[in-house]
Amino acid sequence: MRTAASLVLPLILVGGGAFWFLSAPSYVDAAKLAAVGPGDAQRGMSVFGQGGCASCHAAPGAKGDARLVLAGGVNLVTPFGTFVTPNISPSKQGIGGWSFEDLANAMLKGTSPDGQNLYPAFPYTSYARMQLQDIADLYAYLKTLPPTDNVAGPHKLGFPFNIRRGLGLWKRLYLSPEPVLTIADASDAIKRGQYLVEGPGHCGECHTPRNPIGGLDNSQWLAGAKAPEGKGVIPNITGGDGGIDSWSEKDIAYALESGFTPDFDSLGGSMADVVLNMAHVEPADREAIAAYLKAIPAHPNGYPAATK
Ligand code: HEC
Ligand code: HEC
Repeated sequence: MRTAASLVLPLILVGGGAFWFLSAPSYVDAAKLAAVGPGDAQRGMSVFGQGGCASCHAAPGAKGDARLVLAGGVNLVTPFGTFVTPNISPSKQGIGGWSFEDLANAMLKGTSPDGQNLYPAFPYTSYARMQLQDIADLYAYLKTLPPTDNVAGPHKLGFPFNIRRGLGLWKRLYLSPEPVLTIADASDAIKRGQYLVEGPGHCGECHTPRNPIGGLDNSQWLAGAKAPEGKGVIPNITGGDGGIDSWSEKDIAYALESGFTPDFDSLGGSMADVVLNMAHVEPADREAIAAYLKAIPAHPNGYPAATK
């Protein structure tokens, strides 16, 4: 008994120490943050469109200018529980007190100003690939939006997902600023499209299947996935079987701009919001996204046939 206990206790201590160390939140390098120029709110408006912040942070069902009031309160249903998006307007209840450094740490590292790990339902696993200048511009733009006092409710999560510390381990596995794909001889348009899709556009967060602990399976990048709510699928947007091989670059850019597919179906569900956001993106950027989607590896559908 005594020997067993004297063996087990140090193991728990070492294990606990390793957990504490490995799950610690991380921060953007202070020297890199200090080197960023002042933000340009006008450019930040495009970044806001690319990043699709309004999809999740405008009040549920908000239309037109109301999509610029980032009151939060949107329920995101996932296999881990329901996340309720926070108020990120420039107010006391929102992020009015945040510095540029605070926003950069949240978006690039998933770390809040009080040193907590944020949940990846906030798609910082994609935003981690964003350029610091884009975040500075976005910061300047967010400051110009209307403040609101709305207090969004708490997340509805069971154990162990309600423990933020444990996310540090998850982030070690799935948070990386490296590009997803290596594309040989990419044109400038393809490179720009890669930045937009893999970074701010966070297309993979919906269009790529996830493993049981919620990490993206990048070996099936953009191959389509079961919808996180558990019902229906998100389509394959590669050139593989079931995907969009028959769409031209023009078709893709037009669909992003107008919401119409080549068969004149209109894009619905959560993609309808993406289209609203894309209206604030430069036309050349929508074309760049299309060029990238035509240049990526083709995969068959990333969800079982029976799901459709
Ligand atoms: C897919 C939905 C989604 C999108 C898109 C999204 N967010 Fe969020 N965001 C969330 C969720 C959910 C949280 C809560 C995370 C948590 O509690 O750990 C959050 C948290 C945040 C926070 C932390 C707020 C706080 O009080 O701790 C900031 C800042 C933020 N988001 C900014 C943005 C910006 C800027 C964009 C656009 C570039 C954006 N978000 C896009 C879902 C989203
Ligand atoms: C919040 C989840 C979400 C995000 C983020 C998202 N999509 Fe979608 N996307 C969908 C859903 C859902 C559909 C299916 C819409 C429908 O059937 O009406 C879709 C459909 C599409 C289609 C049409 C495919 C077809 O076969 O009809 C294209 C193209 C597309 N998305 C491209 C993109 C690109 C590019 C991005 C990133 C800029 C993106 N999506 C980001 C959810 C998302």
